[in-house]
Amino acid sequence: MEEVLKYIVANNENYVNELKDYLRIPSISTLAANKKNMKECAQFVSKKLKDAGMNKVKIIPTKGNPLVYGEWMKAKGKPTVLIYGHYDVQPVDPLNLWKSQPFEPVIKGGKIWARGADDNKGQNFVHIKSVEAFMKTEGKLPVNVKFLIEGEEEIGSSNLETFLKKNKKLLACDAVLISDTSLYAEGVPTINYGLRGLAYLEVELTGPNKDLHSGSFGGSVANPINELSRLINKLQDNNGKITVPNFYKDVLPFTKKENDNIKNLNFSDVKYAKELGVKELQGEKGFNTLQRLWGRPTLDCNGIWGGFTEEGAKTVLPSKATAKISMRLVPNQDPDKIAKEFTKYVKTLVPKSIKIKVTNMHGGSPVVVPLEDPAILAASKATSKAFGKKTVYTREGGSIPIVVEFVNQLKAPAVLMGLGLDSDNIHSPNEHFSLKSFELGIKSSAYFFDEFSRVNN
Ligand code: BES
Ligand code: MN
Repeated sequence: MEEVLKYIVANNENYVNELKDYLRIPSISTLAANKKNMKECAQFVSKKLKDAGMNKVKIIPTKGNPLVYGEWMKAKGKPTVLIYGHYDVQPVDPLNLWKSQPFEPVIKGGKIWARGADDNKGQNFVHIKSVEAFMKTEGKLPVNVKFLIEGEEEIGSSNLETFLKKNKKLLACDAVLISDTSLYAEGVPTINYGLRGLAYLEVELTGPNKDLHSGSFGGSVANPINELSRLINKLQDNNGKITVPNFYKDVLPFTKKENDNIKNLNFSDVKYAKELGVKELQGEKGFNTLQRLWGRPTLDCNGIWGGFTEEGAKTVLPSKATAKISMRLVPNQDPDKIAKEFTKYVKTLVPKSIKIKVTNMHGGSPVVVPLEDPAILAASKATSKAFGKKTVYTREGGSIPIVVEFVNQLKAPAVLMGLGLDSDNIHSPNEHFSLKSFELGIKSSAYFFDEFSRVNN
């Protein structure tokens, strides 16, 4: 182990430079114009896996963006770790708010700034480099590893889901290791044991068959924007409860242990509000902020448009209005069931004269991992060693749709070794990742392989 750790420290600069190359590829999965960059990025990852000493490295085509696979299976009798990550990133708009170009990584203030720096290139690169450190020093790994890095996480992972169902043998493992979540706070080693799920829908209202003069026609017909606003307003009551029928029916409450854990984390609402630039926090009555974020379902409008949105004023009564609405879900809510209930309900919220179209965009199930799992204990020890502090346990408000599929299909626990920070601006301008976390992440990963090699499988 000592040689491995020394190697990690000695090669830090190279690692950061390679990460910069990774970050230069604009692998935005949701934009058709970036299709060729997805292939280029898959090639980059496959080259890095080969350089790290992985065998059977291949780029696997799917109906969408390719998957990258590689393995090292020579640790006879030792457990197998499947390392999952994603090379796709979110769009960069609004570009004018970036302080440096999103695909020209810069290092400033101990951080690397670029789209994907945290989510997820910086975080998955950690594991490639820890594996490389073992191979370059000891010539072997303490456990068997399989890498699976995909290019469609940010658009719901549906092609990976299909692949997973057909390739359970190829992906068979004793634990899935994922760094695509956050530390509780800077320098605090963290294991995440839960993710929220997601139901994402688009609601389109149509009124008159064309845009109308708001003077000649205003007052005589329903305005789709007015009606859409009314509809959205009715989705939550004054206590912040979601009004969709049966919405809370399957929600599992927090356990006493979880509530105690939250108390011990000493979360500061004041500090949190200040960082977000708001005077006070708001949410479902009867729950504290961490409970609301980690264990309660929510409903948010992600985007809304219709009518005239350009500069100046135009008197128009629009024909259409549309909103994108997402619901974050918690165990044991089912995204399909929730989407159905939502669709049924919103249809009752518009007047007869308005046509409503509801499209279910994508979803994902929530997940919680049992804290007693030996893989979680090994990860907790590993991160604690790397960071030199006691590891804390958190859940996440965000979602990684494929995780629950790994757990169910492969019957393996998910080890969520988050290394980002909630302040890293993921999905937002000026995304960044701490170089300290990058290095401690590589060490955590190395310690994990070492710890997990001593767990009986
Ligand atoms: N890395 C995030 C998940 C995440 C977000 C973890 C925040 C911790 C904190 C992941 O890449 C992501 O953005 N997931 C999407 C999934 C969706 C597009 C299906 C999400 O949560 O919105
Ligand atoms: Mn993301």
